Formats: sequence, C-alpha cells, structure tokens
Amino acid sequence: MKHLTTLYDLDRADIVEILETSAELKQKFLAGERPALLQGRMLAQLFDKPSLRTRVSFEAAMIQLGGGVTFFSSKEAGLQGRESLADVARVLGSYSDVIVMRTFSQSLIEDFARLCRCPVINGLSDDFHPCQALADVLTLREVFGDLKKKRLVYVGDGNNVAASLAIIAAQLKLSMTVCTPKDYALSDEFLVDLKKRIPSADIATSNDPKQAVANADVIYTDVWASMGQEAEADKRQQVFAPYQVNAELLAAAPRHCRFMHCLPARRGIEVTDDVMDSPHSIVFQQAENRMHLAKGLMVWLLQPKTA
Ligand code: CP
Ligand code: NVA
Repeated sequence: MKHLTTLYDLDRADIVEILETSAELKQKFLAGERPALLQGRMLAQLFDKPSLRTRVSFEAAMIQLGGGVTFFSSKEAGLQGRESLADVARVLGSYSDVIVMRTFSQSLIEDFARLCRCPVINGLSDDFHPCQALADVLTLREVFGDLKKKRLVYVGDGNNVAASLAIIAAQLKLSMTVCTPKDYALSDEFLVDLKKRIPSADIATSNDPKQAVANADVIYTDVWASMGQEAEADKRQQVFAPYQVNAELLAAAPRHCRFMHCLPARRGIEVTDDVMDSPHSIVFQQAENRMHLAKGLMVWLLQPKTA
C-alpha cells in the first residue's frame, strides 16, 4: 500500500515516474484526450482548511480520468467526537480508492494513512504540502528541462511549502536557498533530518533577500501567515516586510530568473502585482499543473506502470 503523507514516501525514481506520467497526461489533455484510466474509481476528499487549487484539481483530475469524487470536512465525517479516527479510516477506506486529506496536524494524516486500506494523499498539513512541490517541479522541468545546477531561492516564511520544496529539491538535486527572517526559518530539526536522509542535499539558509537572489534561477514565495496563523498576520506583516518579492528584489536577480508562488497570493503583501503579472512569473502554469500532477499521482498510486 502506497501513501503520500510526506515526500519521504517517494524516492527519486518514483518522483520521475509520477512527473513523466503527469507530463504525458497533460499532453493528451491538451490534444483533447481524456483516457479513462481510473474508470469506476472513487476519490474522497476530507478537508479542514479552505482550498481552491487542491480540491478542484483533484476533482477535475479524477473526473477526467473516468472516476467519481466526494468531498467533506472532518466535522461532517464525524471525526470530531462522533467516532474514532480508526473507525472513520476503516469505513472510508472501504468505500474509496484514494483519499486526499487537508488538515492541521501532520500526525493525523499519518495515523489515518496507517489505519486506512486505500492510499492517502496529504493535500496540505501545517508541516508539508507534497502535491504542491511535485507540481512545482513538473513546472520547473517544463521551463528549464534539466534541474541540476539550477538554484531555487525561497524568500519568506519557513513553512509547509518551503519544507516540501526543500525535500524535493534534495531528491532531484536542485540547489536551494531558504531566505527567511531569523525566527521563521525551517527548523534545525527538519534540516538535520533532511541532511541525514539525503546527505547530498544542497540547501543554504539566509536572512538577506537581495544577497540570496543574486544567483537565483527561480524566486519562490508564499503567504507570510498560513491557514491557522491568521491571529499572527499583523505581527508577521511587520517582520516580513523586508522579504516582499517586488520589482526591486527581482532586479537583484539574474535577468532570466522566474517567479513562483503556490497561490493563493496576497497581492501587495508578500508579492507585488508587477512581479505576479510580469513575464518572469510562472504562477498560473504552476496552478494549472496541479491538475496534471494530480492525475499522474493518482494513476501512479492506483495503476502503477500502466499509463
Ligand atoms: N496552492 C494550493 O494548495 O492552493 P489551495 O489552498 O487553493 O488548494
Ligand atoms: N502556506 C500556505 C499554503 C497554502 C496553499 C498555508 O498553509 O496556508
């Protein structure tokens, strides 16, 4: 039984296979083909946080592959006191072929996966966002081809998106700089674990955005206050102000540098319109690729090597 609770569930070969299947299914989609590879399969989505891209890209992916979908929150499923996690996982796993979960606690997703008899995909937790990172490297391969020797410079909060990008960068031999305010870096515990698991990981840390982007092939940012941190938003806005990705910061990067954001973006806060809408920006290509990646991932989980 395969799950995707963190990117450590995949090795490099798995990632390449998922990316290639996704790219192939994207080409087919663009040519008007929607192969019914998952006909009769059922996707259940259990979300405790809002979503546009993740929810709809997985739904569209499953429907276009010939399957069906349902969506609900933990509260509706009865996970908040009505019955135990183990009982919900056992019952839901018996109806579904694949489950996408978006919630706060990473350990809840991992516990659910252990108890469930179908694959469970992490659709974002407080700690990780693996599907986003996979779609991002699908996009980077479209833009750059080979990712070796490319440098991804993440500027902003050392959050779930930054952590998943750091893991996938190490897995695919992409260099990464994580540039954050001092108290908002990726944790030492995370970085030590990453280096232990992937000793070749080329990951640098910085607190100086202009210096960090000087050799960037890509600048990536995300919101300064993630879902669940709304009460800290005002304080964070002050601390993170020097980390805004704006025309001045982009000008400090090489001319070919691209801009990425997982979205939703708070325009005028962590990124300005002139960067979001500039020719450097590939944010909508990233967003579109969430659907193609969802297809490649579900086909890989449910129908290995037949796409
Ligand atoms: N990037 C992303 O996961 O977007 P949603 O929160 O809209 O799903
Ligand atoms: N870091 C953001 C990502 C949203 C897709 C959050 O967790 O809210």
